[in-house]
Amino acid sequence: MEKILESYKTTAVEDVTVWYEAAKVSEFPKNGGACIKYKSKQIAIFNFERKNSWYACQNVCPHKMEMVLSRGMIGEQSGVPKVACPMHKKTFSLENGENLNGDLPAIATYPVKIENDTVYIGFSE
Ligand code: FES
Repeated sequence: MEKILESYKTTAVEDVTVWYEAAKVSEFPKNGGACIKYKSKQIAIFNFERKNSWYACQNVCPHKMEMVLSRGMIGEQSGVPKVACPMHKKTFSLENGENLNGDLPAIATYPVKIENDTVYIGFSE
């Protein structure tokens, strides 16, 4: 199981070597998420319209290794954007991946940029 988690590494914008074209902005729900595939990874992308921000993270929840985070509810905790896993409501910061209501490993997060109505996710490999 840990092998799956090992394939996801938080990527800082300065380390991005590939901007992967995910989809058009209009293909993502407002204030919700969708999942894309990049190589063997499933990546959850969130259009947090209320904050006028986009976020990306691994789709796999480290609690029970379910590929579900893209279907989670997004919200804020003390100003930190977060996603709640739809399975058992573990919550994770969308900024640094930290598990906000437990001691699960942090999830990996990835930079997002929007250009010409298109959503790109940054990877370092
Ligand atoms: S699988 Fe995500 S909280 Fe349990």
